[in-house]
Amino acid sequence: MHKKSRAIHRLWQNTLNSIAPRKSARHPTSPLPIVQRDAMSLGTYPSLNGRVVMVTGGASGIGEEIVRSFAAQGARVGFVDLEAFRGERLERELQNQGHSAKFILCDLKDAEALKTVTANLAEALGPVGVLVNNAANDDRHDWADVTPAYFDERVATNMRHFFFAIQAVAPGMISAGGGSIINLGSISSWQDAGDLPVYAAAKAAIHGLTRSFARKLGRHRIRVNTVVPGWVMTERQKQLWATPEALKHHLQRQCLPDPVQPVHVARLVLFLASDDAAMCTAHNYMVEAGAI
Ligand SMILES: NC(=O)c1ccc[n+]([C@@H]2O[C@H](COP(=O)([O-])OP(=O)(O)OC[C@H]3O[C@@H](n4cnc5c(N)ncnc54)[C@H](O)[C@@H]3O)[C@@H](O)[C@H]2O)c1
Repeated sequence: MHKKSRAIHRLWQNTLNSIAPRKSARHPTSPLPIVQRDAMSLGTYPSLNGRVVMVTGGASGIGEEIVRSFAAQGARVGFVDLEAFRGERLERELQNQGHSAKFILCDLKDAEALKTVTANLAEALGPVGVLVNNAANDDRHDWADVTPAYFDERVATNMRHFFFAIQAVAPGMISAGGGSIINLGSISSWQDAGDLPVYAAAKAAIHGLTRSFARKLGRHRIRVNTVVPGWVMTERQKQLWATPEALKHHLQRQCLPDPVQPVHVARLVLFLASDDAAMCTAHNYMVEAGAI
């Protein structure tokens, strides 16, 4: 962690301590009882062992946690991102731990490149059984400044590749007799987030995508669901937006007092990917601590 990150982390931790000063029975010194992966009793999904999973935007944030979580279940994980350094580092780390992981560099805005990457992943790991459409970018924008070119770029970054990734993996899932597709939505299209209108609109569109594909692909036993995260404390959020005031305000909206962490989202993704969720499709599943 570099100096700026450390300072932000300290500030953030102090804020949390002041907001949620409760003690955990298991970790008497921690004010935050159930936020760390190590402090949770986590489930195992035998059906994910050996399954081929493709995660977009898997090099950092929630996507990275999803990649790690699938690898820990024994899945064969392929992940795509435009962050070469982070992607290669994660791939190396997981492979060194004995996991099956493959990183491919790709800008998902390039639909042709996405098609090629999906084919390459299937060739390297086997037919994709689980697709997690996760990559996005929540840069803030003022409605008055949005140009048609910026609008199109935001839609390409936050929604278009979800469609084309499904189009690329669906034939293999149909041949295999089933699959699970999980699209990441966002709390921002459910509540009054005014400072990222194109992102929020693209995220709202994900729900239509999910329901439409769930109807069309359901007969092939392909399940399609949306996971809707609340405000999740990734490194990027902590560095860019999670000021003490903003975080305090948000925690007051939640029913639960602790911030949502990437691991909480990843756990729901695992469930929906697994055979445990065999009859779950066409819906939104929230991980927002009751904030909506
Ligand atoms: N963090 C939150 O509070 C939050 C809240 C609601 C929804 N979400 C959703 O969860 C998902 C993950 O969010 P996050 O906070 O981890 O984001 P993040 O910005 O931390 O990570 C996104 C990853 O996607 C990659 N990516 C972005 N654009 C790409 C492109 N064109 N091609 C390839 N890779 C690309 C980035 O390099 C990055 O590794 C997103 O769909 C986001 O909308 C996040």
